[in-house]
Amino acid sequence: MHQHDLIILGAGPGGYVAAIRGAQLGLDVGIVEKEATLGGTCVRVGCIPSKALLESSERYAEAKQGMEEHGIGLGEPTLDLAAMQKRKDGVVEANTDGVAFLMKKNKVARYAGTGEIVGEGRVDVRDEEGGVTELAAEHVVIATGSVPTGLPGVEIDHETVVDSTGALAFDAVPKRLVVIGAGYIGLELGSVWARLGSEVTVVEYLDRILPGMDAEIAKEAKKAFTKQGLSFRTGAKVTGVSVKGKGKKRVATVEIEGGDPVAAEKVLVAVGRRPNSDGIGLEAVGIDTDDQGRIVVDDAFATNVAGFHAIGDVVAGPMLAHKAEEDGVAVVERIATGAGHVDYDLVPGIVYTEPEIATVGKSEEALKEAGVPYVKGVFPYMANGRARAMGRTDGKVKVLAHADSDRILGVHIIGARAGDLIAEAVAAMTFGATAEDLARTVHAHPTLSEVVKEAALDAYDRPLHL
Ligand code: NAI
Repeated sequence: MHQHDLIILGAGPGGYVAAIRGAQLGLDVGIVEKEATLGGTCVRVGCIPSKALLESSERYAEAKQGMEEHGIGLGEPTLDLAAMQKRKDGVVEANTDGVAFLMKKNKVARYAGTGEIVGEGRVDVRDEEGGVTELAAEHVVIATGSVPTGLPGVEIDHETVVDSTGALAFDAVPKRLVVIGAGYIGLELGSVWARLGSEVTVVEYLDRILPGMDAEIAKEAKKAFTKQGLSFRTGAKVTGVSVKGKGKKRVATVEIEGGDPVAAEKVLVAVGRRPNSDGIGLEAVGIDTDDQGRIVVDDAFATNVAGFHAIGDVVAGPMLAHKAEEDGVAVVERIATGAGHVDYDLVPGIVYTEPEIATVGKSEEALKEAGVPYVKGVFPYMANGRARAMGRTDGKVKVLAHADSDRILGVHIIGARAGDLIAEAVAAMTFGATAEDLARTVHAHPTLSEVVKEAALDAYDRPLHL
């Protein structure tokens, strides 16, 4: 029996960050991971590889179209998909190695195998050969993440019909790709393959893309993606997918209720993820889950059973790596010091397409629904000198502030580097800034950040450059 102060189940962004913070606070930490490498879905088959492919495919698209206006002639670029995939694998490896290094550096004990709760303060780790290592600790943090959700009538065969993991690893560019679900994954991976030459159709159940995101920004995004060649079938319910033929002749037909079916060589199912709470022994000690399978926790991340905590995708809240990381820090601080918290109203969301889409705080719809009086400031990239120099003039920033107090309630950006620009808005809102505070902050010229400043100026008074 190996005894620790803290055992963490799962080495994704939630779990491994909790391990580091625990070690920093003087706890003896053990971490259990069933995959051969550390970093979880995000590092192995999510955020990191998708960003590598987004970067490569964007460069390819730019080389094809976009260099002439800079006076650079390249001729027709060629695509070596195997090399692109190899680079992606290298990026992933550097990151998983990085997490392993951090575990060693912080003297976190690593247990390779599947962890299962077997009693109060007790976890068994089963390795691939069937060997069992017994662990005991006063505190256990469950950080087992999430897995892709399926769709009734649609069998993921991992060949023609794939989930996000499969769509990151195609060894040839599919002639036609159907993406089911116009959320984060569908739009990012749909963009990758469209840029590399696929004819991409995105089928979405709702009558809009990116549900939950500010509607004006989502509408603009749909326009931009359509311009790039993606087709959308919104308000379209997929009722089934059938696959016929062998080898290169294998074709899938996606059935849509009340509409024409769509044929494709590959189908990506991206209709959300569900918490990974099965098979980890919750029932052994009686840990409660809700109707969606999420582990129920209080504001200290404590489950209903003493000594067991849960964080990240396996509990309620946005399924985002950075949210899980913040949970990871806060849970350990609560355990070790009694204080630690996360502001869930200020978790930014970013879609890493081109243009990028980034958002924090309340959407205009949410403010209207809650009856909050607000003012709105908008500024287009088109009116920004740096954006013009970059040739990236599509997009805008929208700042929503309280009509009486001027306090910033939401910031929504579509445009180049939106994911980096949103950080300023998150920081400002964390400190309770008003639109005037943001507008009177000195922003270097010429930078894209001036678009944020001008949108804040527009909210509290008037912009200077429009
Ligand atoms: P999502 O929840 O973002 O989008 C799923 C989409 O599928 C929604 O638009 C939904 O209306 C649609 N849908 C559901 N059922 C459908 C049906 N039967 N037919 C057609 N459409 C249907 O989920 P997604 O894209 O799978 O991502 C999963 C999770 O991973 C999300 O929670 C997301 O936050 C996270 N993620 C975050 C990324 C980022 O931060 N950039 C990137 C990738 C994933």
